[in-house]
Order: sequence, then C-alpha cells, then structure tokens
Amino acid sequence: MSSLFRRLWTVKKGFSNKGSDKQKFPWCSSYQPHKHKKARLFSIFFKAFPFMHRQSFEKGSRQRPVPFLTISAVYWAVFTIFLKLKNDFLWEVYWRMNRVYNFSAGPSMLPLEVLEKAQKEFVCYGQSGMSVMEMSHRSNDFEQILYHAENTLRELMDIPKNYKILFLQGGGSTQFAMIPMNLMGKNHKADYVKTGQWASKAIEEAQRYGQVHVVASSEDTLFDRIPPLDASQFDKEADYFYITLNNTIYGTRYTTLPQTGAVPLVGDMSSSILSEEIDITKFGLLYAGAQKNLGPAGVTLVIIREDLMGHAMDITPTMLRYDIHAKNHSLYNTPPTYGIYFMGLVFDWIKEQGGIKAMQKRNEQKANLLYDFLDQSRLFRGTVVKKDRSLMNIPFVLPTKELDAKFIAQAHSKGFVNLKGHRTVGGMRASIYNAMPLEGVKALVEWMEIFEKENQ
Ligand SMILES: Cc1ncc(COP(=O)(O)O)c(C=O)c1O
Repeated sequence: MSSLFRRLWTVKKGFSNKGSDKQKFPWCSSYQPHKHKKARLFSIFFKAFPFMHRQSFEKGSRQRPVPFLTISAVYWAVFTIFLKLKNDFLWEVYWRMNRVYNFSAGPSMLPLEVLEKAQKEFVCYGQSGMSVMEMSHRSNDFEQILYHAENTLRELMDIPKNYKILFLQGGGSTQFAMIPMNLMGKNHKADYVKTGQWASKAIEEAQRYGQVHVVASSEDTLFDRIPPLDASQFDKEADYFYITLNNTIYGTRYTTLPQTGAVPLVGDMSSSILSEEIDITKFGLLYAGAQKNLGPAGVTLVIIREDLMGHAMDITPTMLRYDIHAKNHSLYNTPPTYGIYFMGLVFDWIKEQGGIKAMQKRNEQKANLLYDFLDQSRLFRGTVVKKDRSLMNIPFVLPTKELDAKFIAQAHSKGFVNLKGHRTVGGMRASIYNAMPLEGVKALVEWMEIFEKENQ
C-alpha cells in the first residue's frame, strides 16, 4: 500500500530535472532508467484523464457518470500492469541476448541474479537514500551489511566460533607476505608445496621472512599434477604448512588434504572457495581473493583460527596484522564496502541454490561434461593427470598452436569468451566457476564437437 501511495505521489509530482535525487526518485531503491520514462508517460496520461472524462458530463448527456476515481483506478491498474510486463520482458530479453559465456579465470562471471539485484539497489540501498558506495563504513546500514555477509558465510561453510572471518584488501598476493609475517613468529620456519605459479610466488615472498622448506614440487612435469606428499618429510617444528588448494593456471586441485598433525595447515583457496564442501577445522587459515567465486575484485577473505593471531613479527605493519583486523571487526580502516556488500549477495545466492553441497554437485556435473568430452576427443586433449583435475579451471590443447588460435577466435565469435590459456602455458583454459551455468558448458562442448568435425 505504501509503495502504491509513493507511486501515485511521484506521478502527481512529476519528474523534474531540478531538485535533489530524492525528489526525482522517491522510490529510488528500485529506480531504473526505463522506468523513469514510463512514469513520465504515465504522468501525462494520468493528468489528461480528467479532461477525457469531462466530455461525458456535457449538458444533455443521458449517460450515467462513472465515478472519476473508479475509472482512474482501473485505468491506472491496466496501464501499469501492461507497462510492467512489457518492460520486464524487454529487459530480460535485452540482457540475456547480450551476455556471453565468460570463461575468464578471474575476474570472472558473476551470477546474473546477483548482478541484477545489485543493479536494482545501486542508486539507493533499502531505505538509506544512498548507494552502498556512498555509505559510511561506520553507519548502521553498512554494519548490517557486514554482519549479514559474515553470518551467511559462517552458516554456508559451517565455520566454528573460534575462527574469525576477515574482509581485507590487497588480493591474494598480499597474503603471500601477511601469512609469514603473522604466523612465522615462533620458529621462523614453514613447509610449502610448490604446485604452480601462485605457490611459487608465495614461497618467494615467505623466504624474505624465514626459512622455507619446499616439501614437494610438480615443476618438473609442468605442474600437471599435485605431487605425492611424504609425511616423513614434513617439518614438525614448522610454524605452518602451506598449500594452494586449486591451481588456477594449471588446473589441478587437492582431493585429499595433507595430514600435518599439530602444524597448522594454511590454504590458498582463491579459485575454489565455496565450490566444494570443505572441513574448515582441518585448517589454521584459509584465504581467497574475491574475483573468482565471491564477487568483484578488491576484497580478500581470510578465515583464521583465533589462537594463530597475536604472534606477528615486530616488523609487521599494523595494516598487515590479522589480530588488528579481527579486533576491529574488519573496520580498522575503511574496508572495500561495495565488495563486501556484493559478497553478501553472492552468499545469499549460494544459499538459495541449496548451499555448497548443491554447488559442488553442479560443479562436478559441469566439469565431468567437459572432461568426458576431452577424454574421448581425437583432437582436443586435457593437460592434467586425471586424479588431480580441477573442478574450476580446465586447461586443454589442440595439436598445433595455429589450431589453438583458430579455436579461440571462432569460439569468441560464438559468444564463448576468454578461453585463451594463461600466457605461461598456452592452449586453452575454461574457467567454470560457480556462476557458470550448466548450459554454458553444454553449449561449449557442443561447439567443440562441431570444431572437431570441421578440423580433423
Ligand atoms: C590461486 C591463486 N592465488 C593467488 C592469486 C593472486 O591473487 P591476486 O591477483 O588477488 O593477488 C591468484 C590469482 O589469480 C590465484 O589464482
């Protein structure tokens, strides 16, 4: 009823270019440009109506006058419903026709429902009268957004109370330094497994702060697998044991976790967070940059066991101390507010899809579809050993570089974009994160079948 009143009030007031945004868009939480036009049109008709109606009151007319308000209400309802259906339909068709299947490794595809929700709330969030981007991070509204994101994630991942959830900045790469600076404070030693470029960068960075022991590496086979881990090689005195759970560039993932005993396990989950179920209690610290499965680039999520905080090296800058961020509830300084809000929407979306379990099932279905095709293809070939294949990033090659280039170009023109492999690896890579629908992978496989027939 209140929205009806607001709508009528707005129409009566009309739209002027003068005045504040609030005057122009009094229901601005749902403001969309096409609706602006609609309301203007509606306003003209609405104002013209009494004149049209007055004709039936001409002298001598025997017609029984229909009450003005009744006609207005009927007219208003029919006209609004018609425009709503028309606009919603066109809106839907427009977006769906223009969106491609984006196989980018990150920043990557985001759920359309979430983008649309964010779009609706872009100018005005709830009753706040402003965009989330314009909001103080100390405001009540933003605190609600932050707590909502945190609580929903805690529920989704079943994160126990003795773990803190932090929303930080600096991307995964800042974690390469933050982890040793905060966790290497006791024995100044850590174990690392070298499974690709991101693990190598983490190793390089950690070497600046202490003694790094590379327990195993798959570098000699171009990181096409997770190397076998021999527990007798693990250092019992290490301050932590570091792994990259999903290797974005090479398309490998851990299917079983190393048994590190009392040594805390630290995991980079940047490209697989929320894609499969995971027992958080097996980890001391987990982190992920947002730009693959969580939201727009700019937020880094860290989940850390409480007892691992408070041992930072003296040289650690305040902004790089986990305990400082935890104590201040991720509000020590201005956090990436819009990214956190967006993450909250993504968490809600995952919940609506049935949670991580449902997400994992869908991800397995998508990955199997592509792997099954690659396994039987006489032209395409997957590059990773079967047991370690990633659910998120699937690299593959054709027999020649020329064919790779032809495939990428043709795929692009068909609406399958960003399939080019990482510059250090070549070939192709399909990144099929949570937001990639099953239809996207089905369509890609169908196109690959056609390409194979045409190029054999
Ligand atoms: C597994 C992994 N770790 C770390 C990073 C680095 O993240 P950022 O670019 O946010 O520093 C990436 C980037 O793609 C990644 O895939």
